[in-house]
Amino acid sequence: MIDYDFRRTGISRSGAAGIALRARTLDGWTAEFLAEHPTATVLHLACGLDSRVLRIAPPPTVRWVDVDYPEVVELRERLVPPPSGDYRLLGASVTDEGWYEEVPADRPTVVVFEGLSMYLRKEDGKRLVQRVTGRFPSGQLLFDSFSSLGIRLQKLVTPVRHAGARLHWAIDDPDELEGWHRGLRCVDVLRAVDLPDTDRLPPAGKLGMWVMARTPGWRDISRIMRYEFRSARSPRHGV
Ligand SMILES: C[S@@+](CC[C@H](N)C(=O)[O-])C[C@H]1O[C@@H](n2cnc3c(N)ncnc32)[C@H](O)[C@@H]1O
Repeated sequence: MIDYDFRRTGISRSGAAGIALRARTLDGWTAEFLAEHPTATVLHLACGLDSRVLRIAPPPTVRWVDVDYPEVVELRERLVPPPSGDYRLLGASVTDEGWYEEVPADRPTVVVFEGLSMYLRKEDGKRLVQRVTGRFPSGQLLFDSFSSLGIRLQKLVTPVRHAGARLHWAIDDPDELEGWHRGLRCVDVLRAVDLPDTDRLPPAGKLGMWVMARTPGWRDISRIMRYEFRSARSPRHGV
């Protein structure tokens, strides 16, 4: 539906399949959260044109909020059919403050952001983490990240180079974020090279993953993280 030659992104078949594997893991973690909290809020930041809400098809008890820049939201409205149920599409920068007030803080909240953290500056990422963990009573953060080696090697990521984008925020130590909010705990770190089904990638991708998985430093370039949080005022923290 978009009049654009997508070969210009420079993405390889393996790169595209790798992104689908990453998305599937984040879908699985989101669905696990919703199975435990059927009346939760899903805050899906930097949704782009991702059809996560259609893939997961949450029950009507779930409040789902997709967020991206206003111009992306405008395009999304023309291309992606809205799901039925308690759904909102918000046009805003995730680094702005005001719009958070529009999402009620009355439920456990899973905040999913795929392909976003590395585009932010660290101070903006930190403020984002502190804002959501400070606002919602409890929940999870599910997202992917790059290490500093990944940030240094960003010119090798063809779609990023072709888009003229710049990557900034690296996470080398997932525990560092725990110090940003009392009640934030890292519960899962999955390397991209260890994602299920990487052995089904096209041969070039399979070889690349095999080499990266065996090379210290390189195997941690891209990871998917799951954090749990609860309000710092929760009784469990004795406040
Ligand atoms: C690499 S794409 C990922 C899109 C989608 N999450 C996916 O995985 O298909 C990055 C997305 O982040 C969005 N984005 C980047 N910075 C943002 C910000 N400050 N506020 C809102 N969206 C942002 C972009 O508009 C884009 O849709």
